[in-house]
Amino acid sequence: MRLGRVLSLAMIGVVALVACLTVEAEPRHVFLTYSDAPETTIDVNVILNEHEGEVQVYYDTKSHDGKVEDYAHHVTAPYIQTLMVISDERALAVATLTGLEPDTEYYFVAGEDEFGMSKERKFRTLPGGDAPIRFVTGGDMGVDGFVISLLGMVGEEEPDFGVIGGDIPYANGLLGRPDLWDKWLHNWDHLTTSDDGRMVPIVTAIGNHETNDYISDNLELRAPWYMALFGRQAENIYYTRKFGDNMVMFVLDSGHLVPHEAQVPWLEQEMAKHQDVPFKFALYHVPLYPAHRDYEGGGSVAGRTHWLPIFDKYGLTVGMENHDHVFKRTKVLKGNEVAEEGTVYIGDGCFGRAPREIDPQPRWYNEKEAAKAHFWVVDVKKDGLDLKAIDAEGLELDRFSLTK
Ligand SMILES: [Fe+2]
Repeated sequence: MRLGRVLSLAMIGVVALVACLTVEAEPRHVFLTYSDAPETTIDVNVILNEHEGEVQVYYDTKSHDGKVEDYAHHVTAPYIQTLMVISDERALAVATLTGLEPDTEYYFVAGEDEFGMSKERKFRTLPGGDAPIRFVTGGDMGVDGFVISLLGMVGEEEPDFGVIGGDIPYANGLLGRPDLWDKWLHNWDHLTTSDDGRMVPIVTAIGNHETNDYISDNLELRAPWYMALFGRQAENIYYTRKFGDNMVMFVLDSGHLVPHEAQVPWLEQEMAKHQDVPFKFALYHVPLYPAHRDYEGGGSVAGRTHWLPIFDKYGLTVGMENHDHVFKRTKVLKGNEVAEEGTVYIGDGCFGRAPREIDPQPRWYNEKEAAKAHFWVVDVKKDGLDLKAIDAEGLELDRFSLTK
């Protein structure tokens, strides 16, 4: 009996060791971003515990339960050298899948043939044209507290993608905090992935808590994790992303790595180029119309001085603002006053962080304010937008619509 027990304990040990080795060999994280048209391309980002062999992505429009030889398509994901490797040796490989069919579900596995593949994952390309799009947005998240319940509700909304306006895990650009990025990536993956396994691609802008105090012109040194994980969405940290025929998004850096004024020529050019797109969104961290901090705060003044005239000139539809950790929706504004036609600014970045205080009365530019954690759900349709804000209890904080 005694020998039998020892043997069975030994067997359990062997099984546990094998399981442990298997788990360790799988990619640490897999997440999705865009660096081109979301109707026909996607970036599969694979984080490995260390750089061993070549990373492969096998994909198909049908499920093959992870049997790599059965997937119709295959691409090698190039290893990308990032500063993460001098944090704890972790390595990144990114495969850009191209030539995809719009409005189509793709199944994939990613990893190293020799060392272990991810389980089968799934994504859906955007439909393109006039078809409706749904996305969620918010910023100032962190890795615990309200973010857990909010991200769980994101999954229930089944968005096409998620738009994050900076201050992501609050790692402050420190190479010594891989744990925070691990938790954030884990939360996003496990909480937003729908019950049928569809992953939610991530679109980001940078916030102050992605940067450190190191004095350098090298953006990788100033924001090592952000640049490593999200620095390939475009050539610059500020960029334009088009979604279908009806929606364009201008992603800006509210002065964390690049000053507001340095982005003006680019913003003018891009908004002019896309002026016929019916629904124009801007995403950035520091609000032009803050609901907690001082209206005369430096970042807010810089936004109103340098960006607002261009937003007004080309008819920005919605400004997605963050940083203040409250809920707000502005009135329709143009020329820095309440107007019949103009821009609505939503925010203010409370997608997990504890809410801050608001004034006893709403500020002149705000329609609504609340000290509530929340995220926004935006439906883009051919002839209008529907927006709703959902709080940490799952209650609807706000709902409004905008037409062309
Ligand atoms: Fe912030």
